[in-house]
Amino acid sequence: MSITLSEAREKLKTYGQEHVLRYYEELSEEEKAALLAQIESSDMEVIDSCRHQEELGQRGVITPLAAMQLPEIQANMEDFTAVGLEAIRGGKVGAVLLAGGMGTRLGSDDPKGVYNVGITRDLYIFECLVHNLMDVVRRADAWIHLFVMTSDKNHEATVRFLTEHAFFGYKAEYVHFFTQKMALAVDYEGKIYLEEKGKMASSPNGNGGWFISLKDSGLLDLVHREGIQWLNVFAVDNVLQKIADPCFVGATIRKNCVVGAKVVRKVTPDEKVGAICLEDGRPSIVEYYDMTEELMAAKDENGEPSYNFGVILNYLFSVAELERILAQSLPLHVVEKKIPYVNEAGERVKPDAPNGYKFENLVLDMIHQMRSCLPFEVVREKEFAPIKNRTGIDSVESARELLRQNGVEL
Ligand code: UTP
Repeated sequence: MSITLSEAREKLKTYGQEHVLRYYEELSEEEKAALLAQIESSDMEVIDSCRHQEELGQRGVITPLAAMQLPEIQANMEDFTAVGLEAIRGGKVGAVLLAGGMGTRLGSDDPKGVYNVGITRDLYIFECLVHNLMDVVRRADAWIHLFVMTSDKNHEATVRFLTEHAFFGYKAEYVHFFTQKMALAVDYEGKIYLEEKGKMASSPNGNGGWFISLKDSGLLDLVHREGIQWLNVFAVDNVLQKIADPCFVGATIRKNCVVGAKVVRKVTPDEKVGAICLEDGRPSIVEYYDMTEELMAAKDENGEPSYNFGVILNYLFSVAELERILAQSLPLHVVEKKIPYVNEAGERVKPDAPNGYKFENLVLDMIHQMRSCLPFEVVREKEFAPIKNRTGIDSVESARELLRQNGVEL
């Protein structure tokens, strides 16, 4: 039983959101109950953040954090790989697929992983990822638990698709789904949009909430039960992604770091990727728009740019360290977005341009909460083919080209 109508009114009044009940009387009993439940469970505190955005995201002092580069990795490949494979065989490594995003830039209503990048045959994004993980499963001769994070917007479609395709050969007992939380979406004045007459507009709350959502889903118990000590978090859209890469796992363990971050060498100092660094002495990521001229010009003792390595959203986290930081909050990112809504005349509007804000926590901010981090260089052409757009940079086209270069038949 959720809150009463008068309690809902009270809560909305506290946050100046009484308009949310504008169409209440027109709703069916079921819709009324659903709206009251949504009002009860929604965090309206966050909305205030868009009113004082300047206080968000203030940066500390940025200094370099050296990456482990390819020659060092090559020289220690055998040892790192052996250590990684041992951890995998011991069941100590799990994988977390972040698939809760909306993929708005790709412009499909389906979950991103369902996108077919094949040309003469079907080849889905999810399929590419499973194949990459299977390579390691075969090498280690051990299954790896795969946790898949979805959101309310794509959960059903994701589960249906993967089940219909029998997880592309992955062992079903090793696949676990959990959903992330949603955050309200507001107009530029901070008023919550109505997505339907009986539903407040919301969108997934960013990829930074993955560990809390994993815990809330009860799956952290499974992590403990199975003795998983490391979780390799990765994005859905990089089709060349290596998952639970033994060499990377071994290097992170050997270097006694609590997180490993796969990084690529930047093409230019101003390339639009977040660069790994230290911030006030702790690992962090400086976003490209926060890179000052001074940071871009800085050089290390070998004359190389000091902030030369960009993250690719592939991190290996120590579970113990994740549990240590559970109580800490992450900074909130306020992002401009196109939000479909019901206007005052009761008509549905699908805007062509951004019309408000959504609120997100980002996984990259978790790096700053970690005690130590190993940036681990990978060859971009072999491991980084993100699909963000249909054409152009980081697109279906560019990813197809990279897949071909890596011998994948399309
Ligand atoms: P992106 O930042 O590319 O966002 O996500 P997106 O929602 O997929 O795409 P656009 O910006 O709308 O076009 C990077 C990774 O984080 C996941 C995505 O699924 C992707 O793997 N993600 C993002 C989540 O799991 N949840 C979120 O709330 C946001």
